Amino acid sequence: MKLLVTGGAGYVGSVCAAVLLEQGHDVTIVDNFSTGNREAVPEGAHLVEGNVADVAANVLSAGDFEGVLHFAARSLVGESVEIPSDYWHGNVVTTLALLDAMRENNVPSLVFSSTAATYGEPSKVPITEDMPTQPTNPYGATKLSIDFMITSFAKAYGLAATSLRYFNVAGAYGDIGENRAIETHLIPIVLQVALGHRDKIYLFGDDWNTPDGTPVRDYIHIRDLADAHVLALQANKPGVHSIYNLGSGEGYSVKQVVDMCRKVTGRDIPAEVAPRRAGDPAVLVASSDKIKSELGWKPTRTDLETIATDAWNFTRNLGDKAHSAKR
Ligand code: UFG
Repeated sequence: MKLLVTGGAGYVGSVCAAVLLEQGHDVTIVDNFSTGNREAVPEGAHLVEGNVADVAANVLSAGDFEGVLHFAARSLVGESVEIPSDYWHGNVVTTLALLDAMRENNVPSLVFSSTAATYGEPSKVPITEDMPTQPTNPYGATKLSIDFMITSFAKAYGLAATSLRYFNVAGAYGDIGENRAIETHLIPIVLQVALGHRDKIYLFGDDWNTPDGTPVRDYIHIRDLADAHVLALQANKPGVHSIYNLGSGEGYSVKQVVDMCRKVTGRDIPAEVAPRRAGDPAVLVASSDKIKSELGWKPTRTDLETIATDAWNFTRNLGDKAHSAKR
């Protein structure tokens, strides 16, 4: 298929683009490199540098695009609380421009990178797709608004669409992993401590209503996540907007993640309790039964040890490269 991948230089977008290329698709990436890395753009992809809202119409007017995978977004919970305007513009306004460009150019199919943050603080876990959506931060609110937007486009204009609500994506695939200029995610930060690039990991609160007092999350391997996108693209039907959760169904506390990283790295990882981070829910664990039964999604790497091991191999390699570049 001829596909547009927005945000294809980011962590999730670049792994999905690489897998689509491996499977023989023709991939064009749009990225403004605000958070993405040039090295992450997979070989064989066509690259258009720019903001999605500015360039999508022009790119899609080239004709014959069969689908769009939309990853480009602002995606940090804490940052969204501090600068919500950037999130409403960067996520909602940008996606509206993209959907209009798709409609004007008869691009029939969309896979959208949605999030567990649309649910907010769930009343029970695991979270199923029919549970209430009450985001606790602007990031989740923007993604939920986009999900509503997509539903209306499917209904009115016949768009074939799937939203995938990711829980905590982690791990690495080949030489692509989490490599952000400003890192806020738990596993990469813990591994930077293991590597000696940071002194300690700060645990954002140990007084949450969870078994060990630290927040519980559901970690999914990036490569399993990519498979789900391919399945969604294949299953998309005109006029239907499907929504699926993507996680492992297992919750791990922040302390358990740190312990697993100590195990796979064999290194001492000092930790210190710090204040809670704004916008964080206590527990997010997915039920992924719907995508397993309807699309046949079969995760093979989504266990915390494999995720931490793959992430560690990537981070260590990155550390070595940075070290040799400095010499
Ligand atoms: N945490 C720490 N110390 C740190 C970093 C994180 O204690 O230095 C804690 C956070 O407070 C949170 C947990 O580790 O409880 C996970 O935090 P991340 O920043 O790794 O991930 P989030 O759960 O905040 O968010 C991620 C994605 C979102 C997505 C969400 C869905 O960034 O896009 O998972 O579960 F919506």
